Amino acid sequence: MYRLEDGLEHDKFANVKIAILGASGLLGSAVCRTVLRRKYKVHPFSFSGVENLPEVGPVRSLDLLEGEDLTRALFDLWPEVIVNCAAVSSPDTVDEDPVHARRVNVDAAEKLGQIASHLGARYLHVSTDLVFDGTASPYRSTDVPAPVNEYGRQKLDAESLVLQACEDNVVVLRITLLNGNSPTGQRSQHEKLLRAMVAGQTPTLFEDEFRQPSSADNVAEVLVELCERPQLNGLFHWAGAERLSRYELGLRICARFGLSPDCLTKGKRSDLAGKLGERPGDLAFVLEPLVGKLKTRPSDVSSQLEELRVPDDLYDWYRSHAEDPSRYIRRFKIS
Ligand SMILES: NC(=O)c1ccc[n+]([C@@H]2O[C@H](COP(=O)([O-])OP(=O)(O)OC[C@H]3O[C@@H](n4cnc5c(N)ncnc54)[C@H](OP(=O)(O)O)[C@@H]3O)[C@@H](O)[C@H]2O)c1
Repeated sequence: MYRLEDGLEHDKFANVKIAILGASGLLGSAVCRTVLRRKYKVHPFSFSGVENLPEVGPVRSLDLLEGEDLTRALFDLWPEVIVNCAAVSSPDTVDEDPVHARRVNVDAAEKLGQIASHLGARYLHVSTDLVFDGTASPYRSTDVPAPVNEYGRQKLDAESLVLQACEDNVVVLRITLLNGNSPTGQRSQHEKLLRAMVAGQTPTLFEDEFRQPSSADNVAEVLVELCERPQLNGLFHWAGAERLSRYELGLRICARFGLSPDCLTKGKRSDLAGKLGERPGDLAFVLEPLVGKLKTRPSDVSSQLEELRVPDDLYDWYRSHAEDPSRYIRRFKIS
């Protein structure tokens, strides 16, 4: 079986091909950038494809639900590593069409595991803290999951099928809420908050809903390190260095961008009434044993927020609505 470390001995980087599914997403795009920085060959795929993903290049269109196309594409490529960041990643979208979401989140994840196994490729699959119900935080990877919504149930089902399909040379990495800049400017926390504010809303965030956020860039570093560490296999947890409430995170996002805290409404989970049972109250992770084995360190919230950008299409709104727009200076890329 091919192991990335073997390849590194012969030819340090040039011939190592890493296929990334979900490359247009918040996490997948960060993984592509990190893979490129480390000089591996990146092969990015997403459902719609992207003509030119900034800092990455073209992303090939591939529907994970077209099994034959998926098999052909990966057998033609014969990558050493497959990283699966593709998913129907929002619980609300899963609820809108759970049958379709299950095909992406469960069936396609398992199929990718089977393909990886046939190719002798390492398989890294991304899962979520929402496999837990939030009543016994912080969670170890050995704790018994108890998902409370359909998204969590699908992600949990995928985990065991992926681990069965691959047996070894596989990692299922459970991660938490991600900060970062998504290619569409719509998928991460601060992007959703800013868009809600542009629409004239004062979004409600709960002071009693706790998360341990990480950043897409930090998780990407972990995933690339896991590509390089074939002796680390199985199910692991990764998160940021701090646990805080969603409301507190919202306040810190406002402070980072010089926006008034009045842009947010402080709520409690009990305000949700009917949907309360589907929102875990406290999802924090114990990061051992993985944190003791990797060079990458969990990032703190301030450094995650420092990297955030105002999406280009919101910049004019931002300049005229922020209390202190000098807190955020737009950075232009020099090409
Ligand atoms: N974001 C978070 O806070 C968070 C927290 C915990 C865990 N996670 C997990 O982390 C992973 C990445 O999440 P994310 O937030 O980066 O997701 P995202 O931004 O929503 O991106 C999802 C990706 O999946 C692709 N995709 C969806 N359906 C597909 C299909 N049928 N065929 C091929 N590609 C398909 C999308 O392609 P198109 O863009 O072309 O549609 C996109 O590239 C997921 O496993 C998610 O469950 C995320």
